Amino acid sequence: MDLSEKIRNVPDFPQPGIQFKDITTLLKDGKAFRVAIDRLVETYKDTPVDVVIGPEARGFVVGAPVAYVLGAGFVPIRKPGKLPAETISYGYTLEYGKNSLEIHKDAIEPGSKVLIVDDLLATGGTTMATIKMVEQLGGEIVGLAFLIELSFLNGRKVLEGYDITSLVKY
Ligand code: PRP
Repeated sequence: MDLSEKIRNVPDFPQPGIQFKDITTLLKDGKAFRVAIDRLVETYKDTPVDVVIGPEARGFVVGAPVAYVLGAGFVPIRKPGKLPAETISYGYTLEYGKNSLEIHKDAIEPGSKVLIVDDLLATGGTTMATIKMVEQLGGEIVGLAFLIELSFLNGRKVLEGYDITSLVKY
């Protein structure tokens, strides 16, 4: 199945000049959603993974089923003020704007093998922020997996040295 056909391009969203890759058209198609998750899982099926981490919000949708199939735990990365217990945070720059992200301080056991899963790799800022927090907590990153990679934004360069998988590249 060509998953790129299931992803809708929305011009000028959320601001002029951005070609937004909309995965809701893929997610609502049961077969396509399953194929996407199966392909991500296939890549890491022989890699020991203790915890899958997904950044809010679309990282939850893609990360949670990957964790379930791998038999790994799921840990959310959230936007500020959403996590109830003690957190650490990290500031980063987005393709369009700035943000910071948070993780629960006790979410990662030292030495845990962590797979980061998100819908999209753009500048790599979100993933790098996530990596920094995971490593600060003593986790070991075993892979980075995305449905979509916007190659022209060079996120791969920012994340050099880590194992990266993406299903659809633009
Ligand atoms: C999007 C996307 C990734 C991130 C990729 O999330 O889901 O998490 O941007 O961009 P980057 O590689 O340049 O960091 P967004 O912050 O828009 O949040 P959402 O999932 O809540 O819409």
